[in-house]
Amino acid sequence: MKVVVALLATAGIAFAQTAPQYGQVRAFLRLMWSGATTCPSGWTCTVSNAYYSQCLPGAATGGSSPTTTATGGSSPTSTSASATGPTPTLVSGWSFIRAVEDPNFHKYLRSEVQNQPSTAVLGDPLTAGQFAVASGQLVQYANLSASTPLYANVQPRANSTVMKLGLTWETTPDEGGGTFVWSGDTLEWSIPTISRPQTNAWLVCPDAAGNLVLFINLGAYAYMTPTGCADETIHAYTGPYPTS
Ligand SMILES: *[C@@H]1O[C@H](CO)[C@@H](O)[C@H](O)[C@H]1NC(C)=O
Ligand SMILES: *[C@@H]1O[C@H](CO)[C@@H](O)[C@H](O)[C@H]1NC(C)=O
Repeated sequence: MKVVVALLATAGIAFAQTAPQYGQVRAFLRLMWSGATTCPSGWTCTVSNAYYSQCLPGAATGGSSPTTTATGGSSPTSTSASATGPTPTLVSGWSFIRAVEDPNFHKYLRSEVQNQPSTAVLGDPLTAGQFAVASGQLVQYANLSASTPLYANVQPRANSTVMKLGLTWETTPDEGGGTFVWSGDTLEWSIPTISRPQTNAWLVCPDAAGNLVLFINLGAYAYMTPTGCADETIHAYTGPYPTS
């Protein structure tokens, strides 16, 4: 632990874009990170968890699941987890997000094309994505070996007759696209330009291909529900595995 504190202090005073050897580099959920973002040549940015990445000796071993740094006391105590196995295992600092009302009970949030920029949908537990809210952005852990995570981008409201807004997963944050926040374990969204009766109201509307497409419900929960849609609230689940 002493070593970690020393490393943090070192990284904290350095404003260089390249971290020192064993130095800390920007982790996924450090959205306001002003320190180093790359490692020296021959060193690899190794993900410990959503909040901590560090330069370790050696070249990248290919983009696979995040590896836990097993270098004695120098890595923070966290998880060793693989996001690519048949059963998703929750990575420290992240949450599954699931609906709890029929007909979508325990369907889990993900991108339509798993780990890729695409529409926000719900799916079976085995396909669950992992998420965190940081600086008002809803961030999807898609692949910590990739250079950026995916951010939920909310479709702009075309006019005042539009009562539901779709979401897509993009590699860029949704600047000016509203604010996601947890209220307990319930995910809420708001934006100053739209008055909503309930910030926790969501809709799930299956498309022609059977995808359970997620929408922000600009109306009230269970009131004037659009045809073909179901009212839902969606919640963080931090068990080790998504359950059905
Ligand atoms: C993760 O990202 C890396 C780098 O972009 C890529 O090479 C790898 O195929 C990705 N893995 C998965 C499981 O998507
Ligand atoms: C409002 O926007 C929707 C979606 O773009 C469109 O289909 C509809 O015709 C628009 N209505 C008005 C009154 O402009």
